[in-house]
Amino acid sequence: MSADVKVLVTGAGGMLGRFVVKKLIDDGYETVGADIDEFDLTVEDEVKGFILAEKPDVIIHTGAFTGVDEAEDCPERSHRVNVDGTRYVVESASEVGAYIIYISTDYVFDGEKGNPYVEEDIPNPINVYGRTKYIGEIEVRGYSGRWLIVRSAWLFGPSPIAFPVKVYRRAVEERELRVVNDQFGSPTYAKDLAEAVIKLMEKRADGIYHFVNSGIASRYDLAMRTLEYAGLLKGINLIEISTGDIESKAKRPPYSVLDTGKYERLFCEPRMWYEALKAFMDEYDISQIV
Ligand SMILES: NC(=O)c1ccc[n+]([C@@H]2O[C@H](COP(=O)([O-])OP(=O)(O)OC[C@H]3O[C@@H](n4cnc5c(N)ncnc54)[C@H](OP(=O)(O)O)[C@@H]3O)[C@@H](O)[C@H]2O)c1
Repeated sequence: MSADVKVLVTGAGGMLGRFVVKKLIDDGYETVGADIDEFDLTVEDEVKGFILAEKPDVIIHTGAFTGVDEAEDCPERSHRVNVDGTRYVVESASEVGAYIIYISTDYVFDGEKGNPYVEEDIPNPINVYGRTKYIGEIEVRGYSGRWLIVRSAWLFGPSPIAFPVKVYRRAVEERELRVVNDQFGSPTYAKDLAEAVIKLMEKRADGIYHFVNSGIASRYDLAMRTLEYAGLLKGINLIEISTGDIESKAKRPPYSVLDTGKYERLFCEPRMWYEALKAFMDEYDISQIV
């Protein structure tokens, strides 16, 4: 696979989409990045018109309504983007015979299993975002062509809404942070996920794969490491709280760690989440991410 393969990326302006587009271009793929300016995922004619005109060989569908709390306020919008939009992408893929890669989430699980989720575990989403992403998965699984679903989690990267970036900003502005210590997951550098998705694409992998950075962290662990790498541990009051101490619109799974054994049987073990976090903070000046 390379120059003679045309890859279309939805959500190309998003945190993950930008890394996917960059890596594809660096690797010599004919790459078409599409975001809301190219087509609105909720408008069937726009999605189909664009994809049928471009005729990609592969569609990497990262575009989504990703606000977890916002989705509770706007469930219809979330459904239109994550479910209807995905269906339009799948139907377009079907027309042009494209291989479709859909990015999904640990939030399809309820977090009650108590150990890492494997691909065969049965989803049971507990919030609107997770539910709409799971129904999006079902749309993809109904595709008669080649499809791949890559579930990931707790993405961070150079986006103002990435958790480490928010932690940094609040620490600098308020000198005090209250962070939950009873939600556990798999923090993952969006750049590492982008590379993994392209490796899976090159293997023509199909079915469901989990990809996250290795290790397990609580939100508190992730905040602590962020402050440590930013040189801010001293002078900041980092307070551990539990989920019950805060009000948030969406329920979140208490333990949504993903098992990457299936990915590791094809490739190698992903680097640890804190190594990936350190790499991210070495590569970007977190104080400049706005
Ligand atoms: N962030 C995480 O922790 C996480 C974890 C697991 C899986 N994922 C999945 O990974 C993928 C990428 O996530 P991300 O964190 O990179 O999200 P992101 O930064 O919010 O990117 C999503 C992109 O989709 C675009 N989009 C939203 N609504 C659209 C519409 N109606 N039409 C066209 N484009 C639209 C957004 O554009 P605007 O910015 O203009 O709205 C944005 O560029 C998503 O599928 C997400 O579900 C994310």
